[in-house]
Amino acid sequence: MSIDSLDLMKKLIRESILRIQQYEPGMPAEVLKGELSLKEEFSHLASNENPLGPSPLAIDAIKRSLEDGNLYPDNCCLQLRERIAQNLRIPAENLGVGNGTTELIFLIGVAFLNPGETFVMSESSFIMAKIVAQMMDCNLIEVPLKDYRHDLDSISKMVSNNTKLVYLDNPMNPIGTMVTQQEVSRFMGKIDDDIVVVFDEAYFEYANKDNFKERKLSRYTQVYSGAKECDRPENIFQNVRFGRLSGRILCSSRRFY
Ligand SMILES: Cc1ncc(COP(=O)(O)O)c(C=O)c1O
Repeated sequence: MSIDSLDLMKKLIRESILRIQQYEPGMPAEVLKGELSLKEEFSHLASNENPLGPSPLAIDAIKRSLEDGNLYPDNCCLQLRERIAQNLRIPAENLGVGNGTTELIFLIGVAFLNPGETFVMSESSFIMAKIVAQMMDCNLIEVPLKDYRHDLDSISKMVSNNTKLVYLDNPMNPIGTMVTQQEVSRFMGKIDDDIVVVFDEAYFEYANKDNFKERKLSRYTQVYSGAKECDRPENIFQNVRFGRLSGRILCSSRRFY
């Protein structure tokens, strides 16, 4: 693109997009290998790459689904949501499916955030949440961590009449700390019904199960049961990474769509 057309693009693009902090993804493995003169194969664990490769069952199911490649896909993921709902024993209409948690965060942002509304999150939380707040032209408040954990008391103090959304990744990535169910329940008691609270639990499977049990978080990591726990199902969204689960469903159903 010539400089002139770049300038033109900058004029045309939504201003809030030009202001977003750029996300720097890891370099592709092939480029890194060349730069560092590495001979060994490696995986980007920081990008959740799996060194074992995809499951042969998943590869087989994907190949079979290509047979239906001439058909328009079910973009509401009806059957998939029903299978997940059965598995979690919750109504299918309570579930939304996206291409990863990032897409769900974007969809929630687009659905709820108006320019100038306040978006509250912790410093060092998942950068995509911050990007969504910037993209939607929100007033972003980043609350410092306390002992490397979400400081829920300070976050609740930052919530004002102008706040639309609070985003909490639990466990946090990359820090890896969690807030307990008791702390969350206390926090939710201070939050008005017209504020959307998003719990991003993309990493709950990496948390120590004993810790979850001990902290009574085990039920909290299921979509909606956590909301019930807080008696506020209507203003809570939980993003749980369903990769493994949907992988299993994909493998067990002959026709995915
Ligand atoms: C807290 C958190 N949520 C979500 C994601 C991204 O999830 P996905 O790969 O499903 O889009 C990340 C980053 O990997 C993350 O750190």
